Amino acid sequence: MTARVSLAVAIPDERPVPVRALRRAEPCTLIIFGAGDLLHRKLMPSLFHLMEDRLLPDDFAVVTVAREALDDNSFRAQVGGALKTFRPPGIRLDAESWNRFALRLHYISGELSDAATYDGLRQRLGGIERALQGGSGRLFYLAIPPSLYVATINRLAESGIAPRVPDPKQRPWVRIIIEKPFGQSLGSAGALNASVRNAFAEHQVYRIDHYLGKETVQNLLVFRFANSIFEPVCNRQHVHHVQITVAESVGVEHRGKYYEEAGVVRDMFQNHLLQLLSLMAMEPPVTFSADAVRDEKVKVLRAIRPITPTVMHDYAVRGQYGPGIINGVPVPGYREEPDVAPDSATATYCAIRFMIDNWRWHDVPFYLRSAKRLPSRASEIAIQFRRPPHLMFPLSDGQIIEANTLAIRVQPKEGIALRFEVKVPGVELKMGSVDMDFGYADAFGELEHDAYETLLLDCMLGEATLFTRSDEVEAAWAVVDPIIDFWANKRPDHFPNYSAGSWGPTVADEFIAREGARWREP
Ligand code: BG6
Repeated sequence: MTARVSLAVAIPDERPVPVRALRRAEPCTLIIFGAGDLLHRKLMPSLFHLMEDRLLPDDFAVVTVAREALDDNSFRAQVGGALKTFRPPGIRLDAESWNRFALRLHYISGELSDAATYDGLRQRLGGIERALQGGSGRLFYLAIPPSLYVATINRLAESGIAPRVPDPKQRPWVRIIIEKPFGQSLGSAGALNASVRNAFAEHQVYRIDHYLGKETVQNLLVFRFANSIFEPVCNRQHVHHVQITVAESVGVEHRGKYYEEAGVVRDMFQNHLLQLLSLMAMEPPVTFSADAVRDEKVKVLRAIRPITPTVMHDYAVRGQYGPGIINGVPVPGYREEPDVAPDSATATYCAIRFMIDNWRWHDVPFYLRSAKRLPSRASEIAIQFRRPPHLMFPLSDGQIIEANTLAIRVQPKEGIALRFEVKVPGVELKMGSVDMDFGYADAFGELEHDAYETLLLDCMLGEATLFTRSDEVEAAWAVVDPIIDFWANKRPDHFPNYSAGSWGPTVADEFIAREGARWREP
């Protein structure tokens, strides 16, 4: 039996201790290349919220460069429409705040491969920056298909609009944000890093993984390293295994073309899941500075045991969803989705056992799992501790003692639950599991800030801790490349192998059972 005990969270009267005092960004211009979904659903709502929270500099402008022939006014109307749908809940969009926001938005149409586009951008920027007070920084954002990254970076470098700035303290600053996917493999990520290095110094480059902007992911660092009671038990002496799950109930939606090329390992493991693993497994950094934190994460990635073809079946399983029912609604299988081949071999489910060959984690499996079309959206990191070595209490036939588990819920219902055994009240000696549960919403109210708000603001402030460094991105590709290559050369004959709305293929259950564990259903 399991009971849930809500934790009465006492918020102390004193103000929370700021890990880093909030600074106001210097005047700057954000130049966004591309005006697709990302801009309308994430970037503009995040900027609007930051403005409403008075976190943007007063002297701030956005210039969007994209193909569609629009003028400033028609572009502003598009953004206004998108804000009605995608602004964060609880944020009002009244005429006054919209006008203040709209005036900061500018638009230039042009081909990104055409040098004339950058001449137009230079002129436009000149006018906009003259109107801003002080020497303004320039933040470029590549919100475009990855196939255009190199050409755009080269054109930018040739145009002189985005010069290399060797010294991070030099003003005005120039920075560039590059979206995921950063490369398709270790080789292509290395080539992209080389092009980026030709144009920019590493401190100017911000490779985004939006999971790092999530409140609960940042909390992992605070939870592990600002408390003294958990860290001493996070190691091979006490931990039996760790499960990291990123479950989605959505399918591939309108992204079939991209997903057919990517598959779940490139889409979720190389970035989000390996980021969660490295934050969970890393040693305490000496300081909370970008390089100290990233050095420790890279060490974890490099300590992951390589998975060779001969042992692949012991370390990884894949799946693809067939038709099924989610929340009572019938949904199509992956092969019936738009832009997906009717005999597609692309995996939409994957579970991998990673072993980290270092002192702390020797022999502790990290099971990572992610998939589309599972029953619900749920991401968590669950640390399952070892069972007591000797049990003095008698157990009835077939009864086993549950292991203690610490579950960090990344989303939704963000929080942390610790499961332990207690005596069930009564004259009999009976044991039951209870969860001591901390919920962010109960303690602090609903989380209001989207990950992109944190990340955009950090870039403006020159704070790179939550961004992936070039060596980190390559180390992550080195971990997943052998798995991707192995599967690319071995067509699955059993796809689809799980129904939409189920918790994945039975091979995945068998895979973890062989190791004496079972999947959680978060
Ligand atoms: C993206 C992937 O990076 O992350 C998507 O490309 C996935 O396929 C998304 O749906 C999940 O993000 P979140 O924030 O909804 O968990």
